[in-house]
Amino acid sequence: MASINVTWHPGQVTRDERTKALGARGATVWLTGLSGSGKSTVAAGVEQHLVKQGRSAYRLDGDNLRTGLNGDLGFSRAAREENARRAAEVACLFADAGVVAVVALISPYAESRLQARLAHERAGLVFVEVYMAAQVDVCSRRDPKGLYAKASSGEIGSFTGVDDPYEVPDAPDLVIEPGTGLADAVEAVVAELNRAEVAPGPN
Ligand code: ADX
Repeated sequence: MASINVTWHPGQVTRDERTKALGARGATVWLTGLSGSGKSTVAAGVEQHLVKQGRSAYRLDGDNLRTGLNGDLGFSRAAREENARRAAEVACLFADAGVVAVVALISPYAESRLQARLAHERAGLVFVEVYMAAQVDVCSRRDPKGLYAKASSGEIGSFTGVDDPYEVPDAPDLVIEPGTGLADAVEAVVAELNRAEVAPGPN
């Protein structure tokens, strides 16, 4: 940490007061999986579903964050860890503010995902990890952005699942199998979120 001699300044509003005033509670849904596994599509569906229900929800999509907040980061291990750390911190802020943060990030490292979960648990915020389980053969056949073709030809290096690692989650809260329809996937994610929100303790 380079920030030293800083002091947390508490506010005058408790989370309960905020929740009552807004009529809404925040949380984070974290979608992890390979590029092309459907994270962004499911995230958009979940966001739309929640907003239609009258909840505040907002997507934090890896590609989108990399056009701004994370635009200075590449794809080395350290950069991907920093990418996930920043996304987790922003998600915590959104969740604390009463918004459901819907994160769609490859987040290939188990340790980064654990740190994201722990940051939420420390803050008493619900965190739901969803693993989009499409394997590299399926994703590279889909290849929606043409990136697997570029990775195979060597035009792009260190591409997740091709020549860069992806650590499969050990104990995600939910697994979405490839071939699951969008509506079913969205329903499963929202059901898991609802379950986590009524479960005692962190998740
Ligand atoms: S992460 O690994 O750091 O979590 P993130 O989700 O932010 O990745 O961004 C992944 C997106 O960046 C992919 O969907 C793809 O569009 C693009 N991308 C560009 N280069 C790479 C690469 N080397 N590996 C993976 N994705 C890449």
